[in-house]
Amino acid sequence: MKSIVIYSSLTGNTKQVAEAITSVLPAGTPCVSMKELPTDLSSYDLVFVGFWVDKGTANKEARDVLGTLHNPHIALFATAGVPPQMAHAKESLINAANCLPDGVESVGTFICQGKVDPKVIEMMYKMFPKGHSHGQSADRDARHKQAAVHPNKEDFQAAQDFAKDILIKLS
Ligand SMILES: Cc1cc2nc3c(=O)[nH]c(=O)nc-3n(C[C@H](O)[C@H](O)[C@H](O)COP(=O)(O)O)c2cc1C
Repeated sequence: MKSIVIYSSLTGNTKQVAEAITSVLPAGTPCVSMKELPTDLSSYDLVFVGFWVDKGTANKEARDVLGTLHNPHIALFATAGVPPQMAHAKESLINAANCLPDGVESVGTFICQGKVDPKVIEMMYKMFPKGHSHGQSADRDARHKQAAVHPNKEDFQAAQDFAKDILIKLS
């Protein structure tokens, strides 16, 4: 099974998860930023596609790539500001999967929390008033504090287990 890991990452969280996944794939499996993609991905049987959640879906760079993939097997992984058990995280994965071409489905998905850039938090708090769903609140502050330590060792382990399960499923 010829595999590749590709990812889009603004602040490094998704890149770290991509590297953790690659470490349990066969030696020599490429791990490539979407900014440096090989022109032709069609020779890969399995593509792990990583993105960061932006407004409840994959970020734009990843969405553009997702729409071009026709490989036999595609696995999605992501990082988000919210914890994975929140509906928003699950919906973001569904929304990202919907960016795949018609008839192409993912073989599995994984998401974990990732710290949000403090500059973005500050900007959001300035942009939206208190009381607005994106504005500052005790809940929001608590979530950002919780996200600040992710992705952590457990997240990397869970991402690796996810990748191993995909390989077993496809073998
Ligand atoms: C512009 C922007 C929009 C974001 N939108 C969301 C969002 O809708 N939902 C969410 O859970 N996290 C959101 N986040 C948080 C990121 O998805 C999260 O911090 C992610 O781990 C960043 O990954 P990266 O370090 O690979 O860039 C947003 C972050 C930015 C910068």
